[in-house]
Amino acid sequence: MFPNVLEVARKLIKERVQVGETVIDATMGNGNDTLFLAQLVQERGKVIAYDIQKLAMEKTRERLEREGVAGWVDMRLASHEEIEAVDEPVGAIMFNLGYLPGGDKAITTQAASTIRAIESGLRVLRPGGIMTVMIYWGHEAGRVEKDAVESYCQTLSQMDYLVLKYQYINQQNHAPFLLAIERRGI
Ligand SMILES: C[S@@+](CC[C@H](N)C(=O)[O-])C[C@H]1O[C@@H](n2cnc3c(N)ncnc32)[C@H](O)[C@@H]1O
Repeated sequence: MFPNVLEVARKLIKERVQVGETVIDATMGNGNDTLFLAQLVQERGKVIAYDIQKLAMEKTRERLEREGVAGWVDMRLASHEEIEAVDEPVGAIMFNLGYLPGGDKAITTQAASTIRAIESGLRVLRPGGIMTVMIYWGHEAGRVEKDAVESYCQTLSQMDYLVLKYQYINQQNHAPFLLAIERRGI
């Protein structure tokens, strides 16, 4: 079997991020990616993590405390559009779009704010750094968002960014896919 989209996202990040770096989780959800990032950068590093739902933040906090990594995660109950305010270079940014698994399906990421957050994220990504965007498009908002994000990524200059799409193309039911954007230059 080929590795699934999440495994590929993590592998690409692991290959690029150093211990001690600052990284961003743009969509905390249940905290799986936040935990992965916190373990990767370790105590010398920092994870800035966003979600607009209190439930997501509580679940993530619980998870991080249980694993003993909460001390270097800055959890923000705010939209990822706030990435605009980050003023330091970051090595990786993870987006996992859609709704909170097990939560309210009506609260989902939205095309316009996602694009604004991606734009801001690309501005703080250091050369050689990576942004991963997992796209789930089995729901209506997801379909709109998928088109918007793909179109936006296609406009990125190939001189500045490498953009990769990883997806099974023979699966039924809107197979989720990964977009990975690497900022060129070291
Ligand atoms: C698919 S879940 C993320 C799953 C998560 N990465 C994990 O590992 O469990 C998507 C999350 O995005 C959050 N979200 C929706 N709009 C957002 C926004 N504008 N800014 C930040 N988070 C948002 C939702 O509340 C939801 O928790």
